[in-house]
Amino acid sequence: MFSDLKGQVHTIVNAKGSDATIKMQELCHLLRESVPYYDWVGFYFKNGDNRELKLGPYAGEPTDHTIIPFGKGICGQVAESNQNFVVPDVHAQDNYIACSITVKSEIVVPLFKNGENIGQIDIDSNTPDPFTEEDERFLEFVNEEVASIL
Ligand code: SME
Repeated sequence: MFSDLKGQVHTIVNAKGSDATIKMQELCHLLRESVPYYDWVGFYFKNGDNRELKLGPYAGEPTDHTIIPFGKGICGQVAESNQNFVVPDVHAQDNYIACSITVKSEIVVPLFKNGENIGQIDIDSNTPDPFTEEDERFLEFVNEEVASIL
């Protein structure tokens, strides 16, 4: 599944004629529609010089959490740790921001540009414990592709 998807991600990112925001939007829809356990897919980016994340393109239910302070929730922790965060069971996390009661698990992978953590891709799943190292490697690939157009 992920090897096919990588080709499609590369095609979207390298298409001529649309800007990075539109391409990220297309990527969110592609991932959500292609991976059965990806129920919400979105990008957050550092909000200027503020120590907070701002929601960028996403696919799935709208969320109230359009601004997340560094350190808060899974996303805010990744903004500080610079490391992937795989959460098999969100209910087992103390520092977690619930976006929907249906969400069971989450993965957040930081997005680096020139070595700097400038944002992240965030996936929510309604399936318990679905994420493997394959998801991590795939989402790292997606973020590297996106970084090339930012
Ligand atoms: N659950 C995230 C908040 C973002 S929503 O999943 C869209 C967190 O704990 O940081």
